Amino acid sequence: MDRKAAEAHLDELWQRGRAFLGSRYAIMGGAMTWVSERHLVSAISNGGGFGVIACGSMTPDLLRTEIKATQELTDKPFGVNLITMHPALTDLIGVCLETKVGHVVLAGGLPPGGAIQKLKDGGAKVMCFAPAVALAKKLVRSGADAIIIEGMEAGGHIGPVSTSVLAQEILPAIRDVPVFVAGGIGRGQAMLGYLEMGASGVQLGTRFVCATESIAHPNFKKAFLRASARDAMPSVQLDPRFPVIPVRALVNDGVKKFNEMQRQVIDRFDKGELDMKAAQLEIEHFWAGALRRAVIDGDVDSGSVMAGQSVGMVVKEQQTAEIIRDMIEEAISALADRRTGRAAGAER
Ligand SMILES: Cc1cc2nc3c(=O)[nH]c(=O)nc-3n(C[C@H](O)[C@H](O)[C@H](O)COP(=O)(O)O)c2cc1C
Repeated sequence: MDRKAAEAHLDELWQRGRAFLGSRYAIMGGAMTWVSERHLVSAISNGGGFGVIACGSMTPDLLRTEIKATQELTDKPFGVNLITMHPALTDLIGVCLETKVGHVVLAGGLPPGGAIQKLKDGGAKVMCFAPAVALAKKLVRSGADAIIIEGMEAGGHIGPVSTSVLAQEILPAIRDVPVFVAGGIGRGQAMLGYLEMGASGVQLGTRFVCATESIAHPNFKKAFLRASARDAMPSVQLDPRFPVIPVRALVNDGVKKFNEMQRQVIDRFDKGELDMKAAQLEIEHFWAGALRRAVIDGDVDSGSVMAGQSVGMVVKEQQTAEIIRDMIEEAISALADRRTGRAAGAER
């Protein structure tokens, strides 16, 4: 197969995702709190992908400012990621509709009743994360226009199941809406693999952190460039009585102190020096503000350096458009090689 045919085949594979997002390529830049702001989001959309603003703990006014600033930097479509447990969710939805954001990603648990419908009635397309087949079906019944599945290889908050297993379980079961696959995708060959399994597109986070346009602190980027897959580990829960939300991040002093702190808190609880609620709060509060400290202030020793296992494939700072081009090139040459009977990447 020549290059032109391979390009056409790739376009066909993710046609549904491209049409849904309105972008040249069905590559979403997953929202990353503190990282996915106007500069990176517009660079991803201008590079042919689909950027997503991370609303995180922004107020409605801050979100409005960020959306408008992003609209100044790109005339291409982009989305907004809202965390469902945000106390001002209704107002944030209002801001997305008022500023005519085309796509809203609802993250962080099942969306409250009415949120999906309100967005749709206002003209936005709604994307929801589904951690299992049954939930994916329920979300589609509730009106989700697309589903994102994210495996435990991803950076940030994670579920227990790997991307490859979720893809095998969910892609064949959900045909009514486009499904985007996230978690552990670092190269175009893997992206192509999920498209061939039935995905309409992919979502990448870790791979975009070291983009030139990303405002992540140079220390944060250096930590990424130095790390390999095995350095990006899920947070550890020491005691089932005190749940810890699993977060994948680079192991640093902060992670070691967190484990030590858990041990001490559990010890004090067992001795009756702390009640259950106080103990749980100490554990929950440990990481408050820690992602900002790492991403913005550059404290990568005690801050939270959230990163996915694909961090080992981040080897240099690169323009966003170049990262996207590399992914496309890898997918196209893998396709061309495969069709001529050569193993992808084999010497010619
Ligand atoms: C530093 C960092 C922060 C993240 N913050 C969020 C977030 O605020 N909301 C969200 O839905 N996902 C968040 N994610 C997940 C990404 O949106 C994306 O789904 C994930 O990074 C994809 O997997 P990958 O890292 O293997 O590419 C974050 C990921 C990273 C690495």
